[in-house]
This record gives sequence, structure tokens and C-alpha cells, in this order.
Amino acid sequence: MIVTPFARRVKRLRTEQGLTIRDLAAALSKSVAYLAKIEVQGEIPTPELTCEIARVLGTDAIELLELAKEARLMSATRDIEREYARVIADRASAETSDLGTEQDTKGADEMTKVLSLINMKGGVGKTTLAMQLAHSAASKRLRTLAVDLDPQSNLSQALMGPRDYVKHLAGKKPTVVQIFDEYVPTDSRSGSPRLLDITEVVVKGAGHGANGMLDLIPSRLELSRTLKNPTGKERRLAKALAQVRGKYDLIIVDCAPTESVLTDAAYFASRYVIVPIKPEFMATIGLPLLARSLHEFRLENEDHEIEIAGLAFNHSSSYSAGPEGQQSIEDVTTEAKKHDWHIFENQIRYSASYAKSAREGTPLSWTSYARSDVIQGFRRFADEVFDQIGLAKVPA
Ligand SMILES: Nc1ncnc2c1ncn2[C@@H]1O[C@H](COP(=O)(O)OP(=O)(O)OP(=O)(O)O)[C@@H](O)[C@H]1O
Ligand SMILES: [Mg+2]
Repeated sequence: MIVTPFARRVKRLRTEQGLTIRDLAAALSKSVAYLAKIEVQGEIPTPELTCEIARVLGTDAIELLELAKEARLMSATRDIEREYARVIADRASAETSDLGTEQDTKGADEMTKVLSLINMKGGVGKTTLAMQLAHSAASKRLRTLAVDLDPQSNLSQALMGPRDYVKHLAGKKPTVVQIFDEYVPTDSRSGSPRLLDITEVVVKGAGHGANGMLDLIPSRLELSRTLKNPTGKERRLAKALAQVRGKYDLIIVDCAPTESVLTDAAYFASRYVIVPIKPEFMATIGLPLLARSLHEFRLENEDHEIEIAGLAFNHSSSYSAGPEGQQSIEDVTTEAKKHDWHIFENQIRYSASYAKSAREGTPLSWTSYARSDVIQGFRRFADEVFDQIGLAKVPA
């Protein structure tokens, strides 16, 4: 849920006045739960109650009303955006199938680029880059599918928004888990599990502001069950994605940081791998592991083509621009040369807008207060990636 400038202002004024939520609730004759909703869950009070809050907190009512109005407009815009994105997505896929099966059969494998974000080191920006690359592709009107292959499900939450994601789970809708199970759980009418149709797992029109061009296969925590019983499941993702390949220009897979059957599943499904790197002490730590894991995979699966499209320096902490960051960039460059790995020229700079963008479920360009140099910087990186995997040549 988005914490709006309005909610932040109420909370700040309340704490400045030395009031607890309970105090404020009592002064307004409201419940504590309702006040908590206002401060952290995006609830916007009526204009009358807003004036009352301003009075109790000793602040200018008009200013608070303006903030409340902005918050309400923002929320309405997001709802409208979501509603239209779904319909646009449905129209787009209907039009695609109207084009006939020709496009589906015409070298679908060559047309659809499948890209995984992998680094066995955690917190380096795999999900952040997966999300932003997916948005960048969608904004170029490339038909894009994001696949969340991490039980943490951060990508799912960032692309669906926490509210819709929770609804999805509560509604027991299929996720990537069903791809690994290959069956949809027993439904009460038929009494027996049925074979999965991949399209059931795809959430259409995910990501606000993505023009309906961005779909998602969400994850859920239960995916970790797959890790406990992995035998024979390595190829299931590839098999499932093969059914929808021709419908997308780009499929982006966000991976978990640990090596498991899910990593193999990503390898089998992908043609390209991007390795986000956080330039700091021990940045190279996951690289030998990745090199070995890919080497072993290639030995065992000679017929499957997979390559590292590039290493991407992602300055996900503000201090990585200093001497420690420079040193680690040199270390990584040396390691990359050993394996003949490409390094993307455009580095992703540090910006709090990345976290905010994930929280707001929006592309960077839609994120509140995102600076245009940050937006442009990521755009250059995305263009470089798309170029590297030959996506720019695919007609949108
Ligand atoms: N360029 C950046 N500037 C600022 N913060 C960033 C940047 N990139 C990522 N972050 C932040 O760093 C944190 C880790 O990023 P992210 O979740 O994308 O990493 P990850 O590799 O997917 O992690 P995990 O291994 O747990 O899946 C997040 O809070 C994210 O918002
Ligand atoms: Mg992640």
C-alpha cells in the first residue's frame, strides 16, 4: 500500500504534537484501527474529517485538504489505470490471435527472447531490474511477460500491487507453483485435479502504466515446496513457456538468490542471462558459483543454447560510488574477462526511486518525484540490454 504525502503529513504532525494514534483517535471520536488505516493503508478521510484532523493537529486545513485531494486523485487514477490496462491487454491479445497462427508458428522461438536475471548473491537488484526492464519493454509496446521464480514473490507484489496480490492469493488463483505441479488443485465440483492450462497462470495487464502490454506469472511462498521435492521438475517452466512463446516478444524471469532446481528451470527456459552486480566488497563472490553452475548445465545439456548477455553494475547503495565501489568494479571486470562475459556500459545509479517505484507498483517514469536523469539513465541501460539480445530488431 502506498504511504501518501497526506498520510506522511498526518503522522508527522501527530508525532510533533506528542500524540499517539490512540490520542488522535480519541480526539476525533474514531477507532484506532481507522486512524492506522489513514496513516499506513492509504485510507483518505472525508473533507469534513480532514478539517477536523487539521483542527486537532493545529495545522492549516486548506493545505491538508489539498494533500488529501491529491491522494484521492492518485488512488482514483491508479484504479482507472488498472481497469483499462486489463481491457487493453485483453484487446491486444485478441488482436494478436486475430492475426492468425502464422505469427505463432513463424519462428516463435527466434522472435521471443527469454531472459533470466540471476546472481547467487542476494539483494543485488535482480527483482528491481526485472521489474524496470519489463516496464521499459512494455513502454516500447513489446509484448512482455514477467515470470516471478522467487518464493519471496517481490516481483509479483511490485507488478500487481500488494492489494491485488493478496487478493490473488486469497482467491486461490494459480501461480508459478502450479507450473511446477502441472496440475490445478482439486476443485470441489469435479473432485479431481486437472491438468494446468498455462494461460490460467498469466495475470493480464499487470503493472500500472504498462499499456496492457505487460503480463505476469506470479509466485507465492509455497514455491519453496518445489525445492523440497525437485525431482523431474527442471524442464516444467520451459515446457509451460513454450506454449505462450509466440505471444510475447520478451519473457523476463526473476530468480531467487540461491542455486536450486529453480535455477535449472530458469536455464532451461532462457536463452539469455543478465547478472546484476552490486559494486561493493565481495561483489565477485557469486560469480565463480554462477560460472560453475552454467558450465555444468551446458555440459549436461549441450543442445540448449544459453549465454550471459551481460553483467550489470547496479549501485543499489549510495556508498558504492566511492573507492570501494571502484575496486569491486575492477575485480568484477577481471573475473568477467576470464569467462569472456560482456559488461554493460551503462551502470544503474543509486536512486531511492527504485524502491519507491516497487512500492507504488509503477514504472520509474510514473513514480512520484523520480528524477528525469534517473529515468533517462535506466532507459539507456534498457536500450543497451534490448540491443544486446537483438530485441530492438523485433517489430513491436
Ligand atoms: N539502483 C538502485 N538504487 C537504489 N536502491 C536500489 C537499486 N537497485 C535495487 N535497490 C534496492 O535494493 C534492494 C534489493 O534489491 P532487489 O530486491 O531488486 O534485489 P534482489 O537481487 O532481487 O534480491 P533477492 O536476492 O533477495 O531476490 C531493494 O530494496 C531495492 O529497492
Ligand atoms: Mg529478488
